[in-house]
Amino acid sequence: MSRKADQYIIENKSKVVDKWRPRYHLSGECGWINDPNGFIRFKEMYHLFYQFHPYSSTWGPMHWGHAVSKDLVTWKYCDIALHPDENYDKDGCFSGSAIEKDDDLYLMYTGHVKHEENSKGYLQTQCLALSKDGLNFVKSNANPVIGTKEIPCGYSLSDFRDPRIFCRKGIYYVLIGSQTERDNGELLLYKSFNMIEWEFVNTVLQNNGSIGKQAWECPDIVSFDDIDILFFSAQNYETTSFVVPNSHVALYCIGKLDLEKGIFKGGNLHPLDYGFDFYAPQVLTDIDNAKIMTAWLGMWNSPYPTSDLNHNWAGSMILPRKLELRGDRLHFHPIKTIENYRSNEMCLDSFLITKKQYLCNGHCFELYVQVQNIDSKFFKIELFSSNKSLLKLTCNLEASTLELERNSFVEELRGICQTNLISCSNLLDFRIFVDYSLFEVFICDGEKVLSARIYPEDVSIDVCLYCDTTIKVNKLQKWDLMKGGKI
Ligand code: FRU
Repeated sequence: MSRKADQYIIENKSKVVDKWRPRYHLSGECGWINDPNGFIRFKEMYHLFYQFHPYSSTWGPMHWGHAVSKDLVTWKYCDIALHPDENYDKDGCFSGSAIEKDDDLYLMYTGHVKHEENSKGYLQTQCLALSKDGLNFVKSNANPVIGTKEIPCGYSLSDFRDPRIFCRKGIYYVLIGSQTERDNGELLLYKSFNMIEWEFVNTVLQNNGSIGKQAWECPDIVSFDDIDILFFSAQNYETTSFVVPNSHVALYCIGKLDLEKGIFKGGNLHPLDYGFDFYAPQVLTDIDNAKIMTAWLGMWNSPYPTSDLNHNWAGSMILPRKLELRGDRLHFHPIKTIENYRSNEMCLDSFLITKKQYLCNGHCFELYVQVQNIDSKFFKIELFSSNKSLLKLTCNLEASTLELERNSFVEELRGICQTNLISCSNLLDFRIFVDYSLFEVFICDGEKVLSARIYPEDVSIDVCLYCDTTIKVNKLQKWDLMKGGKI
């Protein structure tokens, strides 16, 4: 049954301007999208829901957009899964997760409601919806299943959102993003035997203010045998341990979640991505036990030229990444099925670079470069270069640091991100993905990934490489990435 918002999409999707629209990254059919939600494999299909405001290309009352895929690259849009149409979610169906139980698909999400008496002006509660076919969703009569009364003393009644539901040994648990009354982001754990009645267990990870002075959002948990990895996105986070360009950052921590005590004991926090645009990741466990991560390739408090220039769309997801736990760090690999979309291969072996050299050109491609240092202090890879736009990746070989500089016709998009390379040797490899306005680079076999949006004015996107003295390119491969996977 088509509802008002679905009808609006049918009538308005032809108004979307394609100029900067990604071709092999998921964006909305029209309008605004942010966080991925409910990322799951259900009845032989991958389902990805997302925060969606179909009526404009700016954030507004959130719906859950819905797309399905067989290979995590080609997506088919479905009707909107959740509309903000009940008194407990009327101002937005905020982020959440999915779980399968007895062949049914459950979505757990946050009902966001404006509430003037509250100091922040809104309240948030947790709600459930059920689907038998994975396409049509019915909200539970018991909603909200976790109300404000179940929030422990000392925690905000407003910032209580983004439930991540999971099941261990027949018991359901949910991690919820929160904030203390002193404004420190924290995560709360609840448990249930039936997904309807929930009991508070504990605060899984505490924050004395050093890990962000605002809510923690979008928690997730992934297990590699007995090791648990906790994910969350922290607002207003400042640290000297690493440099990220935004005050909002998606982090992970390796350790162990004690479900009895409700405490997570872990090591250091690390960003999941070191670029300009990455937030609110979600991970699904595939049938072969592979852990696949998606995320919003976007950022809060950042301009979206496709909104400002009336292109009628804004926001997209990253190319899904497979997680690998290597020692005490995660490594990230682009989803393997993207290789089925390669065409027009270009391949060059063993050549020296002593001055600026043009490598290739395109809008929608994958580029692999393996560089061997001869006697250089640095080398740079330049893309999207014109007087109005630029992405420049500088590798400082002496200091083992990497820098990504972005120039844009939009002032607030200009800046630099930095990181170091742990495995930096004389041999470095880069897998770069370009999709019109999106850029992702996987460095040193996925040790670091940097994601960014860029809005080039020009029709042509040239890639150039240069260094101070000499480097050798051991291998260069480039493929156009064509849409056309079958669903
Ligand atoms: C994170 C977030 C979530 C919230 C959603 C609203 O990006 O702020 O905490 O549920 O976006 O769209």
